[in-house]
Amino acid sequence: MPVPVQPEELRQFTVTDQAPAAHLDLLNALGFRSAVAGLRLGVFEALAAGPLPVADLARRTGTDAYALRLLADALVGFGYLTGSATGYANSANTTRWLLRDAPESFAPVLAFWGAVVTERWTDLEESMRSGLPRRDFYPWLEQRPETLADFQTMLRRLAAWLAPEIVELIPAPPPAGRLLDIGGGHAGYSIAFCRRYPKLRATVLDLPGALAQGAPAITAAGLTERITALPGDLSTVDLGADHDLALLFNIVHGYPDTEVGALLKRVAAAVRPGGRVALLEPLAEVPQRPAGTADSFVRAFSLNLFHTQGGRAYSFTELSELLTAAGFTQVTQHLLRGSEADHLVLAVRAD
Ligand SMILES: C[S@@+](CC[C@H](N)C(=O)[O-])C[C@H]1O[C@@H](n2cnc3c(N)ncnc32)[C@H](O)[C@@H]1O
Repeated sequence: MPVPVQPEELRQFTVTDQAPAAHLDLLNALGFRSAVAGLRLGVFEALAAGPLPVADLARRTGTDAYALRLLADALVGFGYLTGSATGYANSANTTRWLLRDAPESFAPVLAFWGAVVTERWTDLEESMRSGLPRRDFYPWLEQRPETLADFQTMLRRLAAWLAPEIVELIPAPPPAGRLLDIGGGHAGYSIAFCRRYPKLRATVLDLPGALAQGAPAITAAGLTERITALPGDLSTVDLGADHDLALLFNIVHGYPDTEVGALLKRVAAAVRPGGRVALLEPLAEVPQRPAGTADSFVRAFSLNLFHTQGGRAYSFTELSELLTAAGFTQVTQHLLRGSEADHLVLAVRAD
């Protein structure tokens, strides 16, 4: 939670430059790390039923009471907990956002990014110096069932939020059409399309661990007859042919542009002439996007993509050129009402 700053203090950090803004980042980094520790140790869940004295909180979380008091006090300072003579309680914001059962819980996002920052960003300078990033993000994720579940839950929730708008923005495929959802993991978008178009059939291609995360959702939606899971590597697996619509949602940003070009050519070969490809991407260089959390996130996310996967956020112009070179035409960009960071890019497979 952003460290509480008085308005005059904030002016000194961000307007008059009388104080180093990096001090705020330092505090926010400590706040982030403390919150991740609170989450990993189960502090917020232990306080879900109500306030507890530190001795009881330590017993419930399997921690040392002396040490835990220091973490709890830090979490009070950052606004995650409140403290009183009777013990500690979750703040209103923590109760709303950080409990696992909360309807829009942010806990999977905090847990996932906690793992990324503490385990994958330790050698950020090295990929800056060498220009050669590590490219083992997904193999790392596939080996970590809890982090993988948090990652797919985070994306499934975003899909539940964005899918209604996206399904309406993409022109309808033919009634008994075929959809290819490349890197479709949690299957949320395929499920949304199959619900909207009752005769549509979908194939969700992904790595085995990610598909396992999507399988219960497909079953729960009663769509096992119409949605097929295809385990495989999207760079090498046979993508088939004559699909009416291919989804590449949050995929191309994981690759350098040469590999994006090669992937788009494979996708073009898998889509029938006149069929469509749809990309969902956090686009770089969006003039309409004001400075703020969405713009800051896309910039930092792009750095993360390079460091962990060798990719980055692309601009619409870059994607348009790559799509055209791959054999697509009529490339269009669509702003989404539901997200300032994500954009839809559509293109038609040339005849
Ligand atoms: C950022 S997620 C996007 C998931 C989904 N398309 C969405 O937008 O919510 C990227 C997906 O690509 C999958 N993926 C990554 N590398 C892959 C590969 N080499 N072959 C197949 N799938 C891969 C991941 O497992 C993950 O489900």
